[in-house]
Amino acid sequence: MVGFDTCDDAAVYKLNQEQAVIQTLDFFTPVVDDPFTFGQIAAANALSDVFAMGGIPVTAMNIACFPSCLPPGILGEILRGGAEKVKEAGAIVIGGHTVEDREPKYGLSVMGLVHPKRIVTNAGAEAGDVLVLTKPLGVGILNTAIKGELADEAVYKKNVEVMSYLNQDASRAMIKAGASGCTDVTGFGFLGHAAEMAEASGFTLEIRTENLPVLTESIEFARMGIIPAGAYRNREFIQNKIKILGNIPQEIEDILYDPQTSGGLLIAIRESNVEMLLQELHEKNRTPFAIVGRVKKKTNYSIEVK
Ligand code: CO
Ligand code: CO
Ligand code: CO
Repeated sequence: MVGFDTCDDAAVYKLNQEQAVIQTLDFFTPVVDDPFTFGQIAAANALSDVFAMGGIPVTAMNIACFPSCLPPGILGEILRGGAEKVKEAGAIVIGGHTVEDREPKYGLSVMGLVHPKRIVTNAGAEAGDVLVLTKPLGVGILNTAIKGELADEAVYKKNVEVMSYLNQDASRAMIKAGASGCTDVTGFGFLGHAAEMAEASGFTLEIRTENLPVLTESIEFARMGIIPAGAYRNREFIQNKIKILGNIPQEIEDILYDPQTSGGLLIAIRESNVEMLLQELHEKNRTPFAIVGRVKKKTNYSIEVK
């Protein structure tokens, strides 16, 4: 079934003709100071791989690392934030494990269910498909600005809202509209995950930046050079697979490589079904979304940006 070869970061195991299990694991160090909020974001991120595959999350187990020098109440708040998000996703936390560590870390292993014939993967994209992104980019840049105390409270709130928002509504929309392929956009940045989709499906993705959903403040910070180290690593790792054809401003290019925490879904869908998808997203999705390109016959590059 789905293995590591196509870089989908969830494993799928078929139980019977009607059901397959999706199993995922994700955890990381705090991206915000508030422990409850961190728990919410980490859980939204861990649940995302199930949503990206068109699955329904059922159970989740906590995985936590915590220093003995910090008050245990902080860990309690992290777990409470996580449990709340899991509940919002219609699943339940059934246990977990904590070890002592110098730096706190938190995430979950999530189990979800999907019909074996309706699994959506990053390999499913087909030539002619339209690409839709369901959350704005720039989250990593804003986190860097917030850490450097350069951003105000309103920017922090907006960024938290985007990171902690579940990909559940976007997932339901793509299931209803009949998506052919999907991946969630996380640490490798938009272009990193798009390149994985291109390679797994055997096509080239043509990205158009004019309607790219972006957190506007991240453009200003990118112009000032407030860019996380991960964006440079992402660029170095994949830039030979990327062809920039248009006259793209440097800050937009930086945003395309920006590592996202709990980013949106990148959905590939037949042109005839796009209207239905956009309509569904318009009704239910609470983050900005847009058509960001299309899938075409393979060229020398995984991605062409215009
Ligand atoms: Co993941
Ligand atoms: Co993922
Ligand atoms: Co144990």
